[in-house]
Amino acid sequence: MPVLEGGRKPIRVKRIMQGQLLGWGAEGNVSEVKVKLAAREKQRELALAEKEFNPNANVHEGYPFWNPEYQFKAMRKLQALNREKKLGLRIVPTIRLRRREGAAPTLLTTRLPRVTMADLTREQMRQFMQDVRRQQKTIERVGFKADFDSFMPQIGKDGKAIAVLFDFGNVFDRSLTTAARNSIISRIKNKLGFKQGSR
Ligand SMILES: Nc1ncnc2c1ncn2[C@@H]1O[C@H](COP(=O)(O)OP(=O)(O)OP(=O)(O)O)[C@@H](O)[C@H]1O
Ligand SMILES: [Mg+2]
Repeated sequence: MPVLEGGRKPIRVKRIMQGQLLGWGAEGNVSEVKVKLAAREKQRELALAEKEFNPNANVHEGYPFWNPEYQFKAMRKLQALNREKKLGLRIVPTIRLRRREGAAPTLLTTRLPRVTMADLTREQMRQFMQDVRRQQKTIERVGFKADFDSFMPQIGKDGKAIAVLFDFGNVFDRSLTTAARNSIISRIKNKLGFKQGSR
């Protein structure tokens, strides 16, 4: 039975039904999905968005782009920090990873109502940009970095625009990136026959 990793614990899935294409980009296609949960789970069904990564992707260790495993790991850390330290980041509430045999894992996230920059008034655009910058500063303060295009605008009940972190292809976790760089350097040193501790 397929399992979606993440959340408080993994959930077991009976069936995943793919709906309409929500959008696409360099990383791959994003579709709406209905997830039917196993009989023993509390909930019956989830409506989410699923990103299927381009199969020809050239994944680089320590780099989030095209790398669902990195994105999942980094975002789980950022979500936990956000909760524990009350950082005020607006991260999509659901982030889950689906491993598949013979294919790259997919990422499932909360399905957001479609809002693009073109839908915003000047005032809403200002509010959106301000919210992006506020969150980017906070994200940097805790050792991460997020691009402008990681955020999607959403309109609140009061008509104000906010920014929601939804695309993790350009969200860097500096500690993951440094660890990967160090491991690559030590592998190269090993190959070249450097002894531990030598220059
Ligand atoms: N959680 C979601 N809810 C609703 N729509 C989504 C969601 N995730 C992605 N989309 C739609 O799919 C499009 C592509 O998603 P995304 O930007 O994450 O892909 P990408 O391959 O990283 O693209 P890019 O190269 O532009 O970064 C988005 O612009 C948006 O319209
Ligand atoms: Mg992207």
